[in-house]
Amino acid sequence: MKIQVATIFPEMFAGLDIGILGKAKQKGLIDIEAVNIRDYTLDKHHKTDDTPFGGGAGMVMTPQPLHDTINALDPEHNAKRIYMSPRGKTLDQSMVESLAKENHLLLVCGSYEGIDERVIELDIDEEVSIGDYVLTGGELPAMVLINAVSRYVEGVLGSSESTSEESFSRGLLEYPQYTRPQIFMGLEVPKVLLSGNHKDIKEWRFEQQLKITKERRPDLYEKILPSLENKDKKRKPRK
Ligand code: ADE
Repeated sequence: MKIQVATIFPEMFAGLDIGILGKAKQKGLIDIEAVNIRDYTLDKHHKTDDTPFGGGAGMVMTPQPLHDTINALDPEHNAKRIYMSPRGKTLDQSMVESLAKENHLLLVCGSYEGIDERVIELDIDEEVSIGDYVLTGGELPAMVLINAVSRYVEGVLGSSESTSEESFSRGLLEYPQYTRPQIFMGLEVPKVLLSGNHKDIKEWRFEQQLKITKERRPDLYEKILPSLENKDKKRKPRK
């Protein structure tokens, strides 16, 4: 998968050279290219921002450098072009899964008070937010999106780290995990996990998922309830 990023801080994306993503880049599974918008400015002082028409606080990114960067990186408009913005649709796991099916993403990072609206009109397919809070720029949101999407690219995660059993993939939060030692600071690992009975372990884990989701994310719990009730109906009555 090819991911290009238009940003005034390309050096921030060196953070993606570490860990699982760093390995995926080395293996050529994901190709991430962060490009400096400033390299495309025609302004003699390399300016990329200006004061907003109509007044108000802060600076707005000017359209020319952004428009030229986007169209230099993706001249045929083959990429899905996303502007990272607190005004966008909120990123969730189903959006992550559908973005992972794209071959080419172009992420545009704004700074200051945002970017000139005409760039969004001319060049952007979708605006995406990572949550209801405002950051100083789109770089961290772009890295969040890249991290979440890359995990779905074939070969990035080993089979032991698969995405199939984790939180959100079935609409429930994850069950608690334990490893050695069996007793730590007087706290014991739940007995069922030591029983070797896979059916009991599966049931315990599912009950824990339901309990944790109901307590912490009643919104997710409500959403999953109808499918849980259907599952119960389909289950053959025990003799
Ligand atoms: N830029 C600033 N804040 C943001 C957010 N919450 N999501 C995406 N882009 C942003």
